[in-house]
Amino acid sequence: KKSCVAVILALVFSLGLALSAHAEPIVVKFSHVVAENTPKGKMANKFRDLVAEQMGDKVVVEVYPNSQLFNDNAVLEALLLGDVQLAAPALSKFQKYTDVLQLYDLPFLFKDMEAVECFQQGPFGKKMLKSMMDKGVLGLGYLHNGLKQLSANSPLRVPADAAGKKFRIMTSDVLAAQFEAVDAIPLKKPFSEVFTLLQTKAIDGQENTWSNIYSKKFYEVQPYITESNHGLLDYLVVTSAEFWNGLPEDVAAGLESALAEALEYGNAESFALSEEQKQMIIDSGRTEIIELTPEERALWVEAMKPVWDEFAPAIGQDNIDAAVACNK
Ligand code: LMR
Repeated sequence: KKSCVAVILALVFSLGLALSAHAEPIVVKFSHVVAENTPKGKMANKFRDLVAEQMGDKVVVEVYPNSQLFNDNAVLEALLLGDVQLAAPALSKFQKYTDVLQLYDLPFLFKDMEAVECFQQGPFGKKMLKSMMDKGVLGLGYLHNGLKQLSANSPLRVPADAAGKKFRIMTSDVLAAQFEAVDAIPLKKPFSEVFTLLQTKAIDGQENTWSNIYSKKFYEVQPYITESNHGLLDYLVVTSAEFWNGLPEDVAAGLESALAEALEYGNAESFALSEEQKQMIIDSGRTEIIELTPEERALWVEAMKPVWDEFAPAIGQDNIDAAVACNK
């Protein structure tokens, strides 16, 4: 009788082991729109690899780059429907969910990436991570890409050079106002369409970082790039609050620490990639880089700065002041 009990116990024990060994890991789909050799591409892959190393039995991260799964306008809806669990859209793409993030689109707001870092890590920047909780979207952290440059079919040295020209922009009213301020025509289009729009000359120009201009080959179809550094392209890593709050505590903590490490890596990479890829564009000889004189740059600032007043009520003057205070 004793041996019978022992056999049953052994059976129950091994069944338990087998079941736990086959417990399905949680799948985290991370959808983004850029190439893999970009700050976001590298950060996403790093996060996937860290999670595999540190908690591979519990969670699997699947990364879908290059708008393979969703473009950035659809990805937030997909996130709320549970079709993906992580995304990192540009800060310009959250207008439907909150007004405060529009701060980051104000032209000539940040002097350099150190100022951006100062604001994001400060109390005002941190508070913005939670600005979409009422819509079910939780910000987990910021990621840099860098400052934007202007590319076009014709040389842009002064604001009048942009007048009447069509520029692709992200889905942001601040960016629309910025181009309207120089009498240009802004067109909101998904990132995945930009190359073809430029190649077919359906549009005259666009604004983006060195990294995106390089990795998506925009420089091959744009004969001029003005080094304007006029605005910021950074990201917010987001998840659905419902998904995140439903995770076992140890899993959420593990993902949070892997993400913090991946973001640190991605932010460091963003500086290196920006320099490196700018140089590759110069070396290609496919496009002329236009450097602005201080007088020329001042004309762009003067033309675009009134956009600040237009959006200050929605963004909050306290947020703007805190950002400006970071320009040391
Ligand atoms: C763009 O649409 O130009 C960027 O937001 C793409 C990206 O994610 O860097």
